[in-house]
Amino acid sequence: MTTRNEHWNTIFSTKANSELGWYESDVSQTLKFFSLIPKNEGATIFLPGAGTSVLVDELLIRGYKLILNDISDEALNKLRSRIGTNDRLTWHHHDISKPLPDATPQADIWIDRAVLHFLLEEADIEGYFANLNSMTRSGGYALLAEFSTTGATKCAGLELHRYSVEEMTDRLGNDFKLIKFENYTYMNPVGDPRPYLYALYRKHNG
Ligand SMILES: C[S@@+](CC[C@H](N)C(=O)[O-])C[C@H]1O[C@@H](n2cnc3c(N)ncnc32)[C@H](O)[C@@H]1O
Repeated sequence: MTTRNEHWNTIFSTKANSELGWYESDVSQTLKFFSLIPKNEGATIFLPGAGTSVLVDELLIRGYKLILNDISDEALNKLRSRIGTNDRLTWHHHDISKPLPDATPQADIWIDRAVLHFLLEEADIEGYFANLNSMTRSGGYALLAEFSTTGATKCAGLELHRYSVEEMTDRLGNDFKLIKFENYTYMNPVGDPRPYLYALYRKHNG
C-alpha cells in the first residue's frame, strides 16, 4: 500500500508547480488574512504542509522566521532548492497528524492552506488540532484555509474532509477565538473553481 509520504513524493517528483491542482502564484488571499494579525514583526510562523508554496518566499522577504513542515521530503527538497538555506528557516519532515517531537519550538502563528482537509480519520484530525494547540503560543494566531462544505470532494487523488466555520471553531475549542472568516473561490491552474473557507483565530493569553 502506498504510504501518505510516498503518495505526496510521487506528486512532487513528477509534476511541475503549474500542474499542481492547488498551486497559486499569487498568494494575496492568504496575505490579506495574514495582514489582520497585529504587531507580528519577526514572528515565528509554522507551516504544517508548506509544499512548494510561494507563500514561503513572501514570508521570508518580510523577515519572518519559518518552520517549514511537510510529510513529503520531496516537496521540502524542491522548496529548499528554490529558496536556499537561511538561518530563519527550520525544516521539518513530519506527518502533522502525529505528535510533534518535544523539542519543536513554539510558533507565534500557524498557517495552513490545504493540509488539514486531507486528514480523514478522527484520531488524525484530533492529532492535528493537538499539535496546532501545543505549537501555537498563548496570544498567537492560527490561519486555516481548507475546502469549504461547497468545495470539491477530492484533491490530489485523495478524499477530503471539508470544513464549515462552525466545525473548525468547534474543533479548535475554547482556547481559540474566531477573528474573521470568509468564503473564497480559488481558480486552480486548469480553471476549475475551488471554494475555500479562510478563517483566522487568536489563541487566548495564559
Ligand atoms: C494541497 S498541498 C498544499 C501545499 C501548500 N500549503 C500550498 O498552499 O501550496 C498539501 C500539502 O500538505 C502536505 N501534507 C499532506 N498530508 C500531510 C500530513 N499528514 N502532514 C504534513 N503534511 C502533509 C503535502 O505533502 C502537500 O505539500
